Amino acid sequence: MRFLPLILALSLAFPVASDTHEDINKTPDISGLPSKTNNEVEVLHWWTSGGEALAVNALKDMMKEKGHKWKDFAVAGRAGESAINTLRTRALSGNPPDVAQIKGPEIQEWGERGFLVNIDDVAEEQRWNELVPARVSDYLKVDGHYVAAPFNIHRVNWLWANPDVFAQAGAELPQSMDEFFIAAEKIKAAGFIPLALGSEAWQETTLFESIALAIMGTDDFRKAFSEHNSDLLTGEKMRETLLTLRRMKQYTDADSPGRNWSDTTSLVIEGKAAMQMMGDWAKGEFLAANKVSGKDFVCIPAPGTANQFSFNIDSFVFFKSSDPQQTASQKELAKLILEPDFQEEFNLSKGSIPVRVDINMTRFDPCAQDAMQAFLRAAATDNLVASLSHNMAIGRASQVALFDVISRYYNDDEVNIDETMRHIRAAVLADKL
Ligand code: BGC
Repeated sequence: MRFLPLILALSLAFPVASDTHEDINKTPDISGLPSKTNNEVEVLHWWTSGGEALAVNALKDMMKEKGHKWKDFAVAGRAGESAINTLRTRALSGNPPDVAQIKGPEIQEWGERGFLVNIDDVAEEQRWNELVPARVSDYLKVDGHYVAAPFNIHRVNWLWANPDVFAQAGAELPQSMDEFFIAAEKIKAAGFIPLALGSEAWQETTLFESIALAIMGTDDFRKAFSEHNSDLLTGEKMRETLLTLRRMKQYTDADSPGRNWSDTTSLVIEGKAAMQMMGDWAKGEFLAANKVSGKDFVCIPAPGTANQFSFNIDSFVFFKSSDPQQTASQKELAKLILEPDFQEEFNLSKGSIPVRVDINMTRFDPCAQDAMQAFLRAAATDNLVASLSHNMAIGRASQVALFDVISRYYNDDEVNIDETMRHIRAAVLADKL
């Protein structure tokens, strides 16, 4: 019975009945797709918060300048889960959008099923092989051919803090997990919310990821989540990770359930909460609220993860169309995404660092400068880790199942830890079913 939620989660991840499942594996018949002749490009994405909207608006403006009509198809919620569910429904009914925000192993899933436009010519013209780190470009290709255009590199293992709240509580910014709990106690005693968390499954799993990185270390984290090492998935370090996650709950507020991530960031911005552990899209919210990095807010690596960089790359894929003009518009968009001016504008608002290695970073704030240094250092010391909670280490089926397991454990103190570890093991294997 305990596996019922997992099975439900899996059916959500693959909402396709078995008779239609066979069809998705064939190259889709695109001859019947409606031909659009008005230069309109319909773009499915989930960038709807203040900072995200500013970032994507830069792309909309540039597309408009090139004479294209941007048809916005924004589906908010759950770090993309709602958008991807919508995409599946649209694609399976033969009416995919022209462009969609997809990332990580999911690019392969769509590419292998024949849905995506080959953009090798754009990549060649802009020399992506030279300008984009290989660890990133591996995700963008199917059978050696580019099918996705990357925007950025997000670091997931960050802690965002309000220095004023720390000062009022007489607390120090935490470098380790032990220091985190010392600071959290002081902040709580001073009447602030120590840890801002929106209790949604993906936010809880993002927190779980940073704790796991700190407690398991890079090698064991990779062996557990990318190589599916059973002993590690159900071992002592995993137990400690889960216990630490549960211990953090007492430092969150009563209104946490269901709160979205940007409203959660606002608690730190407004000085109601001291910290949020979240990827650097959170920085976009501080900046959109005109807050200054180093003064109004600070960014430090999630406790215990200073050497590690959990990466998350945003990218767009382009759905095949029967109209050559449409394909040309899609490729134009792919090219714009990698243009140096756009890379700079987009990433200044989005909180991430550019995906091109040759972008001048002088306009970027100290957090972005730190992120760039941390990325290079982690690459040199083999501490780059594909994000678990943001679709880089695992595919959609595993992710949906993992979200469910972590969220149940976090929200119900009666849920047994050994059983949770077994469910985590089952969840990371779900991609292979
Ligand atoms: C995406 C970010 C986005 C965040 C919250 C992440 O999975 O990579 O681009 O800002 O979700 O919506």
